Amino acid sequence: MSSALSASQIREAFLKFFEERGHRRVASSSLVPQNDPSLLFTNAGMVQFKDVFTGREKREYSRATTSQKCVRAGGKHNDLDNVGYTARHHTFFEMLGNFSFGDYFKPDAIAYGWEFVTKTLGLDKARLAVTVFNGEGGIPWDEEAFELWAKQGVSRDRILKLGLKDNFWAMGDTGPCGPCSEIHYHQGDDIPCAEVTAGRQCKGVACDCDRWLEIWNLVFMQFERKEKDAPLIPLPKPSIDTGAGLERIASVVQGKRSNYDTDLFQSILSRVSELVGKPYSQEGGASMRVVADHSRAAAFLIADGVQPSNEGRGYVLRRIMRRAIRHGSLLGLDELFFFKVVDRVIELMGEAYPELRDGRTFILEVCKHEEESFRRTLNRGMKLIDEEVARMKQSGAKVLSGEKVWELHGTYGFPWDLTEIILKERGFEADIAGYEKLKKEEAEKGTDEGGISKDKAIATVHLKLLERLGPTEFLGYEGVGHEGEGSVRAIINKGGVELTEAQEGDEVELVLDRTPFYGESGGQVGDTGRIVGHGGKAVAQVLDAQRPVQGLIVHQVKVTQGTLKVGDMVQAGVDGQRRSSIRANHSATHLLHKALKMVLGEHVKQAGSVVAPDYLRFDFSHFSPMTPEQQEQVEDLVNGWIRENAESQTRVMNLEDAKKSGAVAMFGEKYGETVRVVTVHPQSTELCGGTHVRRSGDIGLFKVTGESGVASGVRRIIAVTGLGAIQYMRETERELKKAAELLKTSPKDLVKRVESTQKRVKELEHKIEEMAVKAQAGSSKDLLEQARDINGMKVLATRMDPADPNVFRGLADQLRDRMKSGVVVIGGEKDGKVVLLVAATKDVVARGIHAGNLLKEMAKEVNGRGGGKPDLAQGGGEDPSRIPNAFDKFYELVKGTNLS
Ligand code: ALA
Repeated sequence: MSSALSASQIREAFLKFFEERGHRRVASSSLVPQNDPSLLFTNAGMVQFKDVFTGREKREYSRATTSQKCVRAGGKHNDLDNVGYTARHHTFFEMLGNFSFGDYFKPDAIAYGWEFVTKTLGLDKARLAVTVFNGEGGIPWDEEAFELWAKQGVSRDRILKLGLKDNFWAMGDTGPCGPCSEIHYHQGDDIPCAEVTAGRQCKGVACDCDRWLEIWNLVFMQFERKEKDAPLIPLPKPSIDTGAGLERIASVVQGKRSNYDTDLFQSILSRVSELVGKPYSQEGGASMRVVADHSRAAAFLIADGVQPSNEGRGYVLRRIMRRAIRHGSLLGLDELFFFKVVDRVIELMGEAYPELRDGRTFILEVCKHEEESFRRTLNRGMKLIDEEVARMKQSGAKVLSGEKVWELHGTYGFPWDLTEIILKERGFEADIAGYEKLKKEEAEKGTDEGGISKDKAIATVHLKLLERLGPTEFLGYEGVGHEGEGSVRAIINKGGVELTEAQEGDEVELVLDRTPFYGESGGQVGDTGRIVGHGGKAVAQVLDAQRPVQGLIVHQVKVTQGTLKVGDMVQAGVDGQRRSSIRANHSATHLLHKALKMVLGEHVKQAGSVVAPDYLRFDFSHFSPMTPEQQEQVEDLVNGWIRENAESQTRVMNLEDAKKSGAVAMFGEKYGETVRVVTVHPQSTELCGGTHVRRSGDIGLFKVTGESGVASGVRRIIAVTGLGAIQYMRETERELKKAAELLKTSPKDLVKRVESTQKRVKELEHKIEEMAVKAQAGSSKDLLEQARDINGMKVLATRMDPADPNVFRGLADQLRDRMKSGVVVIGGEKDGKVVLLVAATKDVVARGIHAGNLLKEMAKEVNGRGGGKPDLAQGGGEDPSRIPNAFDKFYELVKGTNLS
């Protein structure tokens, strides 16, 4: 099989085949679906064309071909749990596709598919079978497709009819969908089949086993579902969506029975096997396959801007990474290893997907961090599970409660699925249903696991308006851009119902055909201002402007005078001063981005931003806190560019050209065919739909006011510009002066004065402690009288509130001196917490008393921990009400100690 095509060659052959047949070669879109809250990850080639199928978006071509990055983990198509245990499931895979947007339909689609599979790839026709839709759920059976296959020479008994479950494809609960027709490849009947093992017959093409492998799916896009469970509506023009998994095609072409045996995986598996120090084999290779598969998903997801976190996409990535790391541990890999495997993926696929190469340093950093933190979690979680298991053994319980699973998850970041696996390994179960219930309750309070909050879901009314009215024209780019005339096209009340007019006092949403108001997007907040009609007789205050769906600007207004009607001509005026501040902050954000890259490195990527009138916030990928020097360097760069007062420039061009020109594009932003490329200063060029200053000097001044961490690997900068920066400096100066006055010094000498004051405070504290110990000294005599005699030694437990460890130690020393032979515990409460100290004299230690061990047991009583040496130990706990119980335990333990 040495002459078989490599996966890269197959990818190229496919794209070329369709290019030669009039298809536009389009780049894979991001794994993070753009502006589509209904979908967790791009899970098929058609996702980037979703709106083209439904007619909401127009492209300059009607045929396209792609090799699309896909992830199927979480959401409707979720293969995560199968990965590693089957020959063909993956979290990440590449889908080859050809698409027709109202251009060709079934005849060409079938002919192309058959030609590519049998001629270009040269697959043996005798091993192929096809399926068509059998008619179900009110959709007629696909006789046309049946006849078309027959016309290609497929024998009629090799054309099977299957139902909705197999031959109807939908991206998710909503979106375009349709019946499909598939090509299957016969791998051989010697492959094990669960049906046969169970004494039944293999279902052939329709069977879940691997004897027949689906290699090509042809979807006849004919319908759209606008809401979950809503009836299907026909699409404006029937279209074609095809999907062929590259990994499967490669396995068939290369004569392998497992995708993992293709060149796509061999190199990754050999890296894993090298690290483990054992060869990879089909049998018993599941853990290695999990690591190999998941390293691809991790590399690609991180390159597309996803970071491990506890919700939404980040949570799925975290699960994938942690599953891989756990399987690595099962293979005996105790050191950080995952990034090494991921690095092999980058090496292997960086050519076809340059984002891997560009993001390499960052991707590897994220992997290392996640593995480190997971290994810590793992250790801590294992301890907790061990304790729970011990408790269950004692009580005879078999199932760990949902609350405990939730606690492990919520409080300690221990993934529920891992809890379940570990418990299973020890013969116990976890109440996952109970856990799910708690999770749901939490989700109702905030966002759900999908990370998609309800209010973000695209409101149907806005979608409908966009369809009916078309996009709103934004007037804010030209000239000053604060004023404009337009007509009222729609009025919507709070319940999402369309009205014909709004009267004084009403709070409604207004849609105009054209507006100077910027609808919040790309981090830039919406404008405020006024909309005036009827020569000034009708006035509405604009409280905010939003963009609930791409292209539609919606003004949130309160009518303060008169009546506004649909059809009225109105004057729209933005609060100009506010807009100017927003412009300055937005342009400064671009300069900041560039300066960060220069000071910290090219790995810096924007991870979110807010551009408000009074401040800007910029989140970016970077691992360590910035030093004060780095912050100053960034400020100096930005202020330097501001002083150069460069003229800013905006060019409108197509997306491909813009990317080629080196403009920086953002994750998760949806860009149309044409984009705006903004150059605030020759140093900074970004794709951006926001509003910007005319000259960099308009920003005035740039000052960072805060730098902090928001998540692992993500830092946040808050900054101010112009007047805001001056105000900030003034306030800081005022505070400094006030502080200096209070300390009776000048701002210049303030630090010295604070240092000397702190020193003085320490000295005084020390003195107070000494005095307290002296005061106790008197009472230690009385205390001794309370000591019990046990086995010839003095044993004393005493309480002292508020607790102070230093005082306790001093007192313990005195008691030890006085009682000559004995052991003492002092306990007390401070700020709601327990402090415990145990001290023993040398001779009783020699007889077998151990202060550290005593303390450890007592601490458990107060819900805490502690330990120490045989003669002195200290600890604490959370429950002061149980200090008496701890004391009882103490006496009991001492009594029970076997003394020599
Ligand atoms: N969109 C279709 C699939 O994913 C082709 O199978």
